[in-house]
Amino acid sequence: MKHTLGFNSHSPMKFVGLDTRYKVASGTELVRLHLDGAASPLPSQTAIDTMMELLPHYSNTHSYVHNSAQISTKALAWAHEQVLLFLNASPTVYTSVFTGAGTTAAINRVSRGLAIARPDKKIVLVSSMEHHANDLPHRSHNNEVSYIPLVGEGANRGAIDLDAYRSLLEQYSGSVNYVAVSSVSNVTGILNPIDEMTSLAHLHGALILVDGAQSVAHRITNLDRQDVDFFIFSGHKVYTPSSPGVLVAKKEVLTTLNGQDLGGGSVSSVSYFDYELIPSYPDREQSGTPNIIGAVALASVLNQLQHQPMSEVERHSASTMSYLIEELKNLPKITIYGDNSLDRTGAISFNHERIDHGLLAAILNDYYAIAVRNECFCAHPYVSELLKKELWEIDLTDIKEEEHEFYVNRKRGMVRVSISLYNTRADVDRLITALREIEYELDNLEKNYEAQPDGSYEHKEFKIDWKAELKFLT
Ligand SMILES: Cc1ncc(COP(=O)(O)O)c(C=O)c1O
Repeated sequence: MKHTLGFNSHSPMKFVGLDTRYKVASGTELVRLHLDGAASPLPSQTAIDTMMELLPHYSNTHSYVHNSAQISTKALAWAHEQVLLFLNASPTVYTSVFTGAGTTAAINRVSRGLAIARPDKKIVLVSSMEHHANDLPHRSHNNEVSYIPLVGEGANRGAIDLDAYRSLLEQYSGSVNYVAVSSVSNVTGILNPIDEMTSLAHLHGALILVDGAQSVAHRITNLDRQDVDFFIFSGHKVYTPSSPGVLVAKKEVLTTLNGQDLGGGSVSSVSYFDYELIPSYPDREQSGTPNIIGAVALASVLNQLQHQPMSEVERHSASTMSYLIEELKNLPKITIYGDNSLDRTGAISFNHERIDHGLLAAILNDYYAIAVRNECFCAHPYVSELLKKELWEIDLTDIKEEEHEFYVNRKRGMVRVSISLYNTRADVDRLITALREIEYELDNLEKNYEAQPDGSYEHKEFKIDWKAELKFLT
């Protein structure tokens, strides 16, 4: 296949939306600063170019009869190859499967399959810092979930406690079906010791599922070296909106699993009484029409990231993050969650002693056009543990009893800033300047807001005219 489609673009990545401007509450217009990449980073121009280039050929796959079907089928096969190349996963050992709703769909698929395949192993060890997507699926299927503790206490918790993890594996040896852990936390950006966790899991007959949603865009992944059984991520976390989730699994393990979605595309023969799955991957797992355009666009971004190269991406991520941490530490009244002696990547969460997370996030948006995220980031148990001491120590003496819950709700959360490939030290400086000004002007700014029962804050006068931003609505 000729790689003229931008699939093999080796130029530095460009992003869509870096010049997006919004009106702010003071009446002027500012360029939006996007610090919310841990939720979904800005789209890469490569993803958009690839989509536009493939769309004229768009066709369903699984056919070689007409030209467009051939092109789409070949492009999708190329996308599967690129995923494995990007993750340093040998195609003789691993296969990649494109799934529906991001990481969530793939984790549910694996958790269902493993429960059916290994019914005698009821225990699942889940880390205590997981996104709900890598926690709730494992609580189903009659599993018994045991949570792996983290090192440290309170707001200073770190990564997985390897000694506690080893003890759990010894305690349940032979009964642990699998271990579920994220390579990087979506709350604190803390990295887990995946290599050690994998060898220990295997030593005790357990499999390991790694949620790579927060690491894949920032860190080199080497599945051949790490030997993990399942590695899962979402295309939208890697600069490719409208792309699928990705499950990368060892073929020898996947072969033992039932429970995938069934339908056309994954079967070689079907009668009214029986059916046979295609023996080869990825077809065996890929029932239904996949998100062809999204998968190919994602592959083109992964291809480009490899040539960036990823070692440079890692360096950028690490140095911008440590600059952010150092600058935040210099601000008074800020608590950064997680052990500050550890390396972090992608995201970091904090609170200001005097400003509720909902108010701070709203002011950053409304007056500075800075996009951050707040609340509990779909990781409620972890966030609650990090906040426990602060919530416990809230002084409610001057607050009416009927308002206690409302008041505590406003404190239950954090502000999260995430760093993507397009963020620079100048972006960090802009955030820090805004935080200093907000603290100085707080009394004036606060008067403009109304606290809502759900913990959010609404500006009394200013609201974005969202319809005016979207021409297709007119
Ligand atoms: C660590 C982690 N796991 C899983 C998910 C869920 O991803 P998706 O919404 O693409 O299924 C997220 C999303 O924020 C995440 O950060």
